[in-house]
Amino acid sequence: MKHLLGIRQLEESAITEIFSHADRIAREFHDPFYHNHKVMISFFGEPSTRTRFSFEAAAVHLGMRTLTAADASVSSSLKKGETWKDTFRTLGQYGDVIVCRHSDEEFTRAAEMWSRIPVINAGNGHDEHPTQALLDVYTIKKELGHLDNLKVMICGDLRYGRTVNSLSYLLKRYGAHVYYVPAVGLGGWKNDPTELKFYPQMAKCDMPYHEFLDPYIAHLKLEEMDVVYLTRIQNERREDGVIVKDYFKLHASRLKEMKEKSVILHPLPRGDEIDTACDDDPRAAYHERQVRNGLYVRVAILKMLLDRPYN
Ligand code: CP
Repeated sequence: MKHLLGIRQLEESAITEIFSHADRIAREFHDPFYHNHKVMISFFGEPSTRTRFSFEAAAVHLGMRTLTAADASVSSSLKKGETWKDTFRTLGQYGDVIVCRHSDEEFTRAAEMWSRIPVINAGNGHDEHPTQALLDVYTIKKELGHLDNLKVMICGDLRYGRTVNSLSYLLKRYGAHVYYVPAVGLGGWKNDPTELKFYPQMAKCDMPYHEFLDPYIAHLKLEEMDVVYLTRIQNERREDGVIVKDYFKLHASRLKEMKEKSVILHPLPRGDEIDTACDDDPRAAYHERQVRNGLYVRVAILKMLLDRPYN
């Protein structure tokens, strides 16, 4: 693995390797794995709490040093019109790995072409967020004990949310049946197999086993689900300025309809799509277990990229 720019690039063996590293890291977290002379550059052109801090915590755990631009879209020379080519070539002189988030989807293509050191995609526009998908699926495996024949409900912003794209690609690998519950106003929401066309990013994923559910009655399917995955409406990415208000919300009163052995996930940050009264339910993994797993998975990814000869 040279970079980690999209979920599709990962062979099954690489995913298994990340998960088994993460398992070992979770067991032996008090024994750091040192990479004393390595430097991780956090280059974030969009806000982040979890992704940036978990990568930085992962680097600290590995004994690395970090260089951070938390507002790179205004504080780096991109603001002066510097190209991604020149940016990656320059950053490569200061560090050993770059973790990059930016609203410009194309930075992944530039990284692939021009970066001499590994680049990890921490979110490119509304395209992909591969490390989030890896930690999501790792969490599902830990919570349920398997990844077979899953029924997964993915709710919220299917048009502008990037985590749902990467997650769909990864769930496809495991043959999951995905029930998409899109927000009203971001595309169609009738149970019509052509509906993926409203979501160009997800349509590329071509999920074989999927259907759409009307957000007003999606709760009727809760009892069948192994995973309920909610996402925030990305109003900041809409160019028409319309605020989307109608989408599936998980109310605490609905929890009794869910299977006892199931899991509620959210990439966070959240809006009002999960009632805070759900937070203490044992199936709610989003606040602690999912976030913590993100740390283990990101240590594993850094290790895999840095332990290999780079070519
Ligand atoms: N899930 C996620 O990407 O969160 P942050 O935006 O806080 O990094």
